[in-house]
Amino acid sequence: MLPRLVVLAAAAILVSGQLEYALPPALQAAQDSTSSIVVSEYISNYTDASSIVQTASIVDQKTGAPSDDTLPGLPQASTKLTALDGQLMDGNIPTVETSTSGLGPTRRLADDYELVFSGTQDGVPDAAIEGTAYLTFYLVPNTTYDAGLDACFAYCDGTAGCVFFNIYRELNNPYLDFVFAEQSNLKCVLYGDVHTAAEKTNSGGVTQHDALLPSMHSVIESSTGYALRPVEQPADPEGYKLAFGPLSAANNAPGYMGFAFISTYDVAACAALCNTRGADPAGGACKFFNIWRAVIHGNPTTYTCAMYSAATNASTATNTGQGDLQVTLSRGYARISYIIDGTFEDYVCDDQSVFCFSERAPGWIGSSSSSTGHFDATIFHYAPYAHTGSSVALLGSAFGSDPFPGLLRSALAIAGLTRGRTYVLGFFHSSTYSGFQLEQNSFVSVWWGGSWVGNVTVGYSSWGYFEFKVTAGKNNTLAFIGGQAPAYDFIDDVNLFLI
Ligand SMILES: *[C@@H]1O[C@H](CO)[C@@H](O)[C@H](O)[C@H]1NC(C)=O
Ligand SMILES: *[C@@H]1O[C@H](CO)[C@@H](O)[C@H](O)[C@H]1NC(C)=O
Ligand SMILES: *[C@@H]1O[C@H](CO)[C@@H](O)[C@H](O)[C@H]1NC(C)=O
Ligand SMILES: *[C@@H]1O[C@H](CO)[C@@H](O)[C@H](O)[C@H]1NC(C)=O
Ligand SMILES: *[C@@H]1O[C@H](CO)[C@@H](O)[C@H](O)[C@H]1NC(C)=O
Repeated sequence: MLPRLVVLAAAAILVSGQLEYALPPALQAAQDSTSSIVVSEYISNYTDASSIVQTASIVDQKTGAPSDDTLPGLPQASTKLTALDGQLMDGNIPTVETSTSGLGPTRRLADDYELVFSGTQDGVPDAAIEGTAYLTFYLVPNTTYDAGLDACFAYCDGTAGCVFFNIYRELNNPYLDFVFAEQSNLKCVLYGDVHTAAEKTNSGGVTQHDALLPSMHSVIESSTGYALRPVEQPADPEGYKLAFGPLSAANNAPGYMGFAFISTYDVAACAALCNTRGADPAGGACKFFNIWRAVIHGNPTTYTCAMYSAATNASTATNTGQGDLQVTLSRGYARISYIIDGTFEDYVCDDQSVFCFSERAPGWIGSSSSSTGHFDATIFHYAPYAHTGSSVALLGSAFGSDPFPGLLRSALAIAGLTRGRTYVLGFFHSSTYSGFQLEQNSFVSVWWGGSWVGNVTVGYSSWGYFEFKVTAGKNNTLAFIGGQAPAYDFIDDVNLFLI
């Protein structure tokens, strides 16, 4: 977003100590006015890559099967938050409502897996993987290695997110030999990312956590790794659409809202973080995220979820990494807004001119609250009035000819919503046009499906972001009622997002 010019107090002139109303918006006042105050708009941040790289250098998400007395077959760990905006943490991903569309794990063919590395012969020491995106582990039948391997394929098939497993024998672990019911020393450890032999760093150790068990030195043998062959795109998270990827470059774009590291490459977890990220005062709600895998010295290290208040595309995915850090599997997802032309940019002038206005625009209808009202809700194509782009909606008589509030509504019921689900309605509002005194009566009331949702009564106020939660019902119409000329209310960049 380039810095653009905002014209304030365009139509207010001071006449003998009293603010007097001069030129209504219909007369293209801002262009004509000599009293315009021009300020440059806030310039949003770009991705803070150095903070991401610095945090990636200290985060430790590598693990293998946990300590000896941990029972096998525990439910897979849910995705964790390992860092937020540069602070390391061990947090949970906020839970968001989701539809239970049951696309569960499916049985795959043995051919769907490929051998990544083989283990040593029996009797030759080996090591187990310690890597990112650990999910859970099982003990599999050890009558033969192949019997265990078959069972491990099946466990990976049955575990959501499993794309890799490390299977190995662990000798001299008294829990496996004497305690656990499986009576097997063949461990099948499942991961949500692929690891290589370079990450075989656990070669066993002293096991004794219980006074009744002998203390022994465990030994790892026959540590083998299998990966699922690269799959198609992950399913789009609810309320989002894939914008680019997978690419080997991360997003470097404006509207940056910060980043999180997560424990697995989980697009739904990143979407939940974006949905629950507080709005940016200048950019509004989180509208885009970029998820990517950081590989350091060839090994997967963490999964970055960078959030933005502006949508973008592959053209801004330009950061391939820095130093030892390589960007891999970078995907961008844009949040879907269900409003038709919430930016009003589809409204342009027939004759290509820079100034025009109308009570009708694609997706919107303006009308008056009074039978004698005149152009009380309009859509303008005129960049100086707009928050972004060139078009914007206005509440309050465009000609200044009456004080009645205007009614701006969506031309059709909003399509694509799921009944009963919660959405966030956000928009930008400005009420500076007529100056401090005359704007004191500015107001906007927001209506959803015929019910009042909330008011914006901020008097004289420059562009600010407002949001309200709404629930999808049978007939989802949106309406704004407001303005009472010369108290004008401008509305722009209206979004409706699933949360
Ligand atoms: C299977 O594992 C159990 C428990 O560790 C062990 O006692 C047994 O010897 C193993 N069997 C084979 C064939 O390796
Ligand atoms: C944006 O930049 C400002 C000034 O450098 C900084 O204080 C703020 O934390 C940044 N915001 C994010 C999300 O990085
Ligand atoms: C990406 O966005 C830019 C700026 O909005 C646009 O000019 C460009 O055509 C887009 N590129 C693609 C591949 O969609
Ligand atoms: C909302 O604004 C309208 C119009 O000014 C007003 O009639 C109504 O009382 C306001 N409601 C609340 C709760 O402030
Ligand atoms: C939906 O509500 C709007 C405004 O209240 C009304 O004009 C329209 O007829 C309604 N549509 C249906 C299908 O009920």
